[in-house]
Amino acid sequence: MTARLLAFASTGRAMLWAACGGLLAAMPGCSRCTPQASGPATVSDTGAEAARSLTGPSAPDRATEAGTHAAARRASTPACLAGAAFDPSEDAAVLEVMRTAEVVRISRGSGGGTLGFKVTLTGGQRAYFKPDQSPARGHAHGEISAFHLDRLLGLCRASPVTGRRLPVALLRSAAPNHEQLKLLKIDADGLVRGALIAWIEGDLRPLGVVPEWLACLRAPAAPARSPFKGFDVRESTPCEPPPDHLLDALHDLVVFDYLIANVDRWSAAKTNLLALSDTGPLLLFDHGEAFWRAHFVVRNERQLDFVGAPRPALASRLMNLDLKSLRLRLADDPLAPVLDAHLLEGLRLRLAALRARAATPRAGTEI
Ligand SMILES: Nc1ncnc2c1ncn2[C@@H]1O[C@H](COP(=O)(O)OP(=O)(O)O)[C@@H](O)[C@H]1O
Ligand SMILES: [Mg+2]
Repeated sequence: MTARLLAFASTGRAMLWAACGGLLAAMPGCSRCTPQASGPATVSDTGAEAARSLTGPSAPDRATEAGTHAAARRASTPACLAGAAFDPSEDAAVLEVMRTAEVVRISRGSGGGTLGFKVTLTGGQRAYFKPDQSPARGHAHGEISAFHLDRLLGLCRASPVTGRRLPVALLRSAAPNHEQLKLLKIDADGLVRGALIAWIEGDLRPLGVVPEWLACLRAPAAPARSPFKGFDVRESTPCEPPPDHLLDALHDLVVFDYLIANVDRWSAAKTNLLALSDTGPLLLFDHGEAFWRAHFVVRNERQLDFVGAPRPALASRLMNLDLKSLRLRLADDPLAPVLDAHLLEGLRLRLAALRARAATPRAGTEI
């Protein structure tokens, strides 16, 4: 089972459903769809017993509970806005597998700054495990909460995420002597908490963002200095809009990062500005550095000042966002409650700030 991707053809708005193991797996050059060649460990090498002990409860109780929560999830999830990359109707099944299926293969991830692991689960679902790392290098609560907020707002641009605990022995086996192993937070039972993110089965690539695109997001009262690290957007930079839904998606991304207090989006390398093709859809990706003890992030304030206010389509979603629905979804996570009262309060305050902006749109910010 895999997370499905929803890709919009650049013209004609034709929708193409593609699942790895099927269509994309058969495409030449789909590097994400073929197992890594170099030395992944299998659990038979590495601690199958410990991995098996992670299989969640399979009692009828769990099924009933899951059904109730799935129904609540459906009731609280709005339709996806244009530019979606994922189909939320697939989420429950993917999450269930990612929570319960055994790890049959694991290898160290590459490409990011934190120690992560590419895993394959019984049945073939693939995922990326990002363990909680200290001091604050990356935390599961950011990834998990961002995913649920993505769905509650109908952005549908984040891959499904669940909390999961994996044995440190398993992780060590896949990254022997890795210097970042010492940053892992290991529970007394030898398990490490982390975020398990459904593998995105497509040709992921940095979006071709340029300052000229960002110039199109500039609100009349925007700060002169670029708030986007790695992108020199000046008052004199001309607006040259990107194709399709990308401008809206970038606008929403700035607002979303404000909501979740994400501090790790912008860099010249665009490692967290990924898309499934040069023209999108844009993904919401890598939220390990979001939701901090400090409720507001200065740079995010500047970014929000730059775009002025949420665009109307997202503003109405923010107005309707019910944080009780978020708590309900998070209560369903194996690492529940995921966000403590302090982090939820920060979210509430940032949501209120976004609503206030949405309620007072400024002249000339129509998008
Ligand atoms: N769910 C996923 N699907 C596909 N590739 C992934 C996924 N998660 C991570 N990756 C790969 O791992 C890299 C690092 O992931 P990222 O979440 O950015 O971690 P970090 O916090 O270390 O920056 C990504 O650039 C991407 O190549
Ligand atoms: Mg990253």
